[in-house]
Amino acid sequence: MAERSVKVGLIGLGVVGGGVARLLLEEKERLAEVLGAELQLARAADLDEKLAGELALPAGVYTAEVNAILDDPAIDIVVELIGGLEPAKSFILKAIAGGKQVVTANKALLAHHGAELFAAARQKGVGVAFEASVGGGIPLIRSLRESLAANRINACLGILNGTCNFILTKMTAEGASFQDVLKEAQARGFAEADPAFDVEGIDTAHKLAIVTALVTGAQPRLEDIPTEGISRLTPLDIQFAGEFGYKVKLLALFNQDGGGVEARVHPALVPRDHVLASVDGAFNALHINGDWVGDVLLYGLGAGRRPTASAVVGDILEMARGILGGGRGQTPPLGRAGLKNGGPLALKPLSEAVCQYYFRFTALDKPGVLAAIAKVLAEHRISIEAVIQKGRETGGGVPIVMLTHEAREASVQAALEIIDGLEVISQPTMLIRKA
Ligand code: HSE
Repeated sequence: MAERSVKVGLIGLGVVGGGVARLLLEEKERLAEVLGAELQLARAADLDEKLAGELALPAGVYTAEVNAILDDPAIDIVVELIGGLEPAKSFILKAIAGGKQVVTANKALLAHHGAELFAAARQKGVGVAFEASVGGGIPLIRSLRESLAANRINACLGILNGTCNFILTKMTAEGASFQDVLKEAQARGFAEADPAFDVEGIDTAHKLAIVTALVTGAQPRLEDIPTEGISRLTPLDIQFAGEFGYKVKLLALFNQDGGGVEARVHPALVPRDHVLASVDGAFNALHINGDWVGDVLLYGLGAGRRPTASAVVGDILEMARGILGGGRGQTPPLGRAGLKNGGPLALKPLSEAVCQYYFRFTALDKPGVLAAIAKVLAEHRISIEAVIQKGRETGGGVPIVMLTHEAREASVQAALEIIDGLEVISQPTMLIRKA
């Protein structure tokens, strides 16, 4: 049908890159109908030639040499799907310098170097699209950048790592330990090459950095985002949280409603009747509050070959439309015609956070223990909303579990330091913040 053709060069034929190649090949006719022009997978590069065979790429498409894509003036769009910082960054900068449109799913790279890449693209007058970098197949970037562009986004709460959500869901449903379900989660093929990126919250922090940059127009420094993972959580805490009426989720929290900008990643208590409490398994979700739109929930699969390829090819189509339209009307990467100058976005330090807290103290089973703990909390103006104490041995002590009213993080840390030094406390206290 279509006489015009837009040529795509794909770098990386792994889980996502392979999915993109298959989608472009299998849905060629439908995509041509959507675009009104042919979307041609012109070249696909990977060091592993066997992948090209498995994907049944047409003759002449596979290359082991990435410069066959970057140096080819006929390639319009470069799709980077190798992940990691280098050589991905150099490949993207070279593509930009060559005047090519860029599509990437590389959350780590954007979280570290997004500002630099966007500035280079802007200078060259090309686009960088990254829908698949956060929330996999969920149209989350475009929703924030375009559909909700008229709003000031007050707050976002996200479940943005499928591996962690799968683990927590299993721990909740089966009382299984973190270690027991970790392997099962990894076997699902969603985990990062280094699993610490998932379970220590780093992957979620990368995604939160991107969401924060989109919402504010300024890039935060990754090291300024307080980040805690799920590896220290025990089935006992998940069970006690349930008794208080909460589920435990690894959350990405963004808030600019109370003076200053907060962005942090940590396990959090989510009330059972909150929509995010029912986001289970490998699903992701982002709950957004905007000043005009109110509450919005975006939900779907945040990883995996097909959902992620769906997002990447959506970006390729957007870039292709821009090319066919002479580059008119393209939305800038962060949705703002002018990027904010003045360096990285300043974030509120964790010590200034104010929220409710769950504590699990491990104490000797003696009279007066509860009073001793309560005294320290009172001295730090931390008031208690609920207490559970049951005679359950947890190896060297009984658990005393508390839910506080709102308190300041700095006071909580100061109080816990004293409490953990008491003779009657036999293990460091477990803390979980409430969403
Ligand atoms: N490791 C990530 C996850 C993959 O588990 O969600 C998607 O970014």
